[in-house]
Amino acid sequence: MVKISININDRAYSEEVEDNALLVELLRDKLGLTGTHVGCDTSQCGACVIHIDGNSVKSCTVLAAQVNGKDLTTVEGLASEGKLHPIQKSFQNNHALQCGFCTPGLVMSAVDLLKKNSSPSEDDIREWFEGHICRCTGYKNIIKAVQEAIT
Ligand code: FES
Ligand code: FES
Repeated sequence: MVKISININDRAYSEEVEDNALLVELLRDKLGLTGTHVGCDTSQCGACVIHIDGNSVKSCTVLAAQVNGKDLTTVEGLASEGKLHPIQKSFQNNHALQCGFCTPGLVMSAVDLLKKNSSPSEDDIREWFEGHICRCTGYKNIIKAVQEAIT
């Protein structure tokens, strides 16, 4: 077991985790932050993306023990005072989801993209989402949602 101290969505946590526990398991199974999804066991779907120290990362590819001392944001931490984050709002406006399973990961990725590139082209957006799979939407409205959030 390893002891870790982390900050998640502006709240401090001290936890004991198995050496081989995945970060996504800690978030979902131990801390109840089930907005972060698991859609594959091959690190391909992107449903598990969160932010670690402000950068989007697939939380199924990181050990919980590796995030000691880090600052994490999950999809639960995006809305503030009951108000959706602008990216969440633009996903809603553009009907950029159907079942919604992929949505938390895409939203977290999109927030990071717009932080790193304030005016991405359609190609930039498509390339950025390369590590995400959505089985429902055909991606068109997801791209539109990000484009709306730019303007
Ligand atoms: S669960 Fe992490 S990429 Fe699919
Ligand atoms: S909305 Fe269903 S997988 Fe993307």
